[in-house]
Amino acid sequence: MIGRLNHVAIAVSDLKAGIATYAGVLGAKVSEPQEEPDHGVRVVFVELPNTKIELLEPIGENSPIAKFLEKNPSGGIHHVCYEVEDILAARDKLKAEGARVLGDGEPKIGAHGKPVIFLHPKDFCGTLTELEQI
Ligand code: CO
Repeated sequence: MIGRLNHVAIAVSDLKAGIATYAGVLGAKVSEPQEEPDHGVRVVFVELPNTKIELLEPIGENSPIAKFLEKNPSGGIHHVCYEVEDILAARDKLKAEGARVLGDGEPKIGAHGKPVIFLHPKDFCGTLTELEQI
C-alpha cells in the first residue's frame, strides 16, 4: 500500500543551527524557512536526490513538537512520511486493521499542500508515521 518515502522529519530547537548543519556541514540544498502556524512549526526542506528531510522548529505555545524537544533536547527524528495514492482508502484499511489515526481521523492539508494523516507511533514500531496522498 505505501509507496515512496516522502520525507523524514527531524525536530530541532534551533532552526538556524539545523540549516547550518545541513547546508553548511553536509553541503545539502536547503529551502527558505516556511511558517506553518496551523501545525505549530517553522520548517525547511532539505532536498536530497531521492527524498527530503524536513527540519521542524516549534512556534507558538502549543506546538506539538515542543514536548518532543523537552524529551530530546538535542533534537531527533520526529516522524517518517510515506506516499499513498488514496489517503481515504489507506486510512479506512488501516483502521480496519486496528491502527489508530491521530486527531479526528480526517486528512489535513500538510506542508506540501497535499492531504495527510498521522498514525499512532505505538502501532508502527514506535515511530510517528505520516501518510501523504500524492
Ligand atoms: Co511530515
